Amino acid sequence: MRVARSFEAEPSNPRLALVRTGRRVEFWTETVGSPPSVSGERWVERSGRTYRSFEPTRSKLAAALSNGWTGGLPCPRDRWLYLGAATGTTASYVADLVGPEGRVYALERSLRPFSRLLALSARWPNLLPILGDARRPREYSGLVPPVDGLYCDVAQPDQIPIVRSNAELFLKGPGARVLVALKTPSMGRDRTAAGHRARSEEELRAFVHLARVVTLEPFHRGHYLLGGRVRPEVFGGGPGRPATPRAARSPGR
Ligand SMILES: C[S@@+](CC[C@H](N)C(=O)[O-])C[C@H]1O[C@@H](n2cnc3c(N)ncnc32)[C@H](O)[C@@H]1O
Repeated sequence: MRVARSFEAEPSNPRLALVRTGRRVEFWTETVGSPPSVSGERWVERSGRTYRSFEPTRSKLAAALSNGWTGGLPCPRDRWLYLGAATGTTASYVADLVGPEGRVYALERSLRPFSRLLALSARWPNLLPILGDARRPREYSGLVPPVDGLYCDVAQPDQIPIVRSNAELFLKGPGARVLVALKTPSMGRDRTAAGHRARSEEELRAFVHLARVVTLEPFHRGHYLLGGRVRPEVFGGGPGRPATPRAARSPGR
């Protein structure tokens, strides 16, 4: 491990550090995990803490930060549900951001990446893998408590309806956060990337106060990060909706 330059805590989350080199800003997370590196990222020790480089080419969330995302991040002690965790690269960073007292419930549908996610969770004590289909949230509802945030990166054309059904079931209440990594090349050829983005924004705006959307180019072609805070209407009852926030019905972790 090398010793890095000056680490500056990001104001909204002290577990995220900024390292400025001229005009460039690098992002690092104070890690909860243990080595080795997950996807080739660098690890350093600084003032008794261990940090991992959070690189825009390896994670869409890091790409969003590099491109000026200001729409909120996972915070220390939060619980997040992560849909489409794959082998756990970005989920491990979300786990770093929520810290040792937070939890990340990481859902993945395919067995091959899930087996690597499972192995990774042995080194990240706050990362809890779940094998399941994000389109069937009731099937894993017994494994996930009310959460502060929902991160979705399933690369499916019906991603926003998937987000909504999980938000209704698992988010703690109005003001909970939603982050969606949108991969427009997986959303069909009937629209341009901008057209898919506009439609997804419209669908998401029905239940989320949207923050400013950022493109993830040039790191991830045709991708965007969308998100914000959930509107109270999501918890207002009606067909297919819970009459009360889940937090009011089910206590604790
Ligand atoms: C783009 S990859 C996720 C990459 C990961 N989020 C990261 O940044 O490290 C999309 C993942 O979503 C998973 N997926 C697709 N549809 C799903 C569904 N309905 N339920 C759960 N996982 C799904 C895929 O198997 C794939 O591993």
